[in-house]
Amino acid sequence: MIKKNTRIYLIIVLVALVGIQFFQPKRNTAAITSDHLFQQTHVPGNVQQVLNHACMDCHSDQTKYEWYHKISPVSWYINHHISEGKHELNFSNWRSISPLDKISLLEDVKKEVGSGKMPLKAYTLIHREARLTVAQRDSLFSWVEKYQEELMQEALN
Ligand code: HEC
Repeated sequence: MIKKNTRIYLIIVLVALVGIQFFQPKRNTAAITSDHLFQQTHVPGNVQQVLNHACMDCHSDQTKYEWYHKISPVSWYINHHISEGKHELNFSNWRSISPLDKISLLEDVKKEVGSGKMPLKAYTLIHREARLTVAQRDSLFSWVEKYQEELMQEALN
């Protein structure tokens, strides 16, 4: 037999958990436009795969939601990552960024991934496909470097 106080407490928690489900952040699921990185330049298939599996959920306007992402407070938690991540770097808005800013963002990509800060630990804990192998990192970095050179040419023209 559960004590009366415990029962009241459990009911309050349950009602609160149901209540917060009515407060959901706006979904980050816009359609892909021609402004997207992959439309703006040729990105090799294996590099697209790395970016899609490890970065795009937080650094684009196209998050792939799992069912549990739709439940508060998980939805608030991931929404916070998405808005912070997009604020720093949004591959869906790639067109609007100047060549020099792109070069510097790509430098940050190398720095963040190289130091293991990106993708976020909280993310790779659940998304196993986001744990990059050495080969995946290498292909990402060699694409970044090649693309940076192209952008440098663009900036000089
Ligand atoms: C779970 C969400 C999430 C994922 C996945 C993710 N990021 Fe981030 N990223 C963030 C957040 C939040 C920030 C801003 C706060 C910070 O710097 O920690 C950020 C910041 C950045 C920055 C800017 C850092 C700076 O301060 O200059 C870069 C570059 C970056 N991420 C690259 C990547 C790349 C590349 C990947 C994939 C390999 C990736 N991120 C995956 C959430 C994410």
